[in-house]
Amino acid sequence: MVAVGGLMVACLLVEISCGAVEAVRVQERRLSSGRILGSTDPNTTFAFYKFSLQWPPASCDSSLKCVGDIPAEFTIHGLWPQLSNDKGVILQTGNLVQQLMQAWPDLKNTSSLKTSQTFWSNEWTKHGMCSDYGDKPLDYFKAAINLRNNFVQAFKLERGVSYKVKEIVKKVKAAVNGTPEIACRTKKGGKGAKILLELRLCYKKGNPTPQGIQDCKVSYSGVCKSTLDELTLL
Ligand SMILES: *[C@@H]1O[C@H](CO)[C@@H](O)[C@H](O)[C@H]1NC(C)=O
Ligand SMILES: *[C@@H]1O[C@H](CO)[C@@H](O)[C@H](O)[C@H]1NC(C)=O
Repeated sequence: MVAVGGLMVACLLVEISCGAVEAVRVQERRLSSGRILGSTDPNTTFAFYKFSLQWPPASCDSSLKCVGDIPAEFTIHGLWPQLSNDKGVILQTGNLVQQLMQAWPDLKNTSSLKTSQTFWSNEWTKHGMCSDYGDKPLDYFKAAINLRNNFVQAFKLERGVSYKVKEIVKKVKAAVNGTPEIACRTKKGGKGAKILLELRLCYKKGNPTPQGIQDCKVSYSGVCKSTLDELTLL
């Protein structure tokens, strides 16, 4: 990005992709599921954007169930990173996809590649493109896989066992040397019993690789109110 004009366009694009309103994202999800990501061939760094504007009356003249007023003006369908051959960048097959299916599956259907591609695609456009990885989706996904694999090797909890929030924090800290954020939820039909929903780790910003772990600012979230709360690992 040399020219100032180019820089402004790049900023604008980042703004659009990172700040898109939820309605647009929902529409994007419906209409172009799984379209956007990097592929496994080396030609994956995207070459240009395709900005797709839709004509809503035509979009709704299909199996798409449109609710509410249908605008009679062009609205955004999506902003798509494209390869130089004008193909949408997509993760289809190969080693990285196998690893992602294990490390980053969409739980809505863990056996469906398509479902997961949509999930990765949304994660990339919502979060990845706004990171230091900018135009390097493959590096972004590889970094996430590495962080996750290192973590699951270093850290184990036993299913069915109850832990205090502070015990989990301590165990994570012993394993990876950083204070995590523990996300808690109440168990369905569990009369208020709390369960561990997520563990979140915080890393120093690097360019582009996350540079080492740091303590998260909050150590619990969701329904947990204290580090003494008891959580079960379902
Ligand atoms: C990348 O794409 C170019 C143009 O389509 C092609 O000539 C080249 O062989 C590709 N590189 C690889 C390693 O597939
Ligand atoms: C889940 O994905 C598999 C593989 O694509 C498919 O055969 C199956 O029908 C899907 N299940 C549901 C409930 O959508």
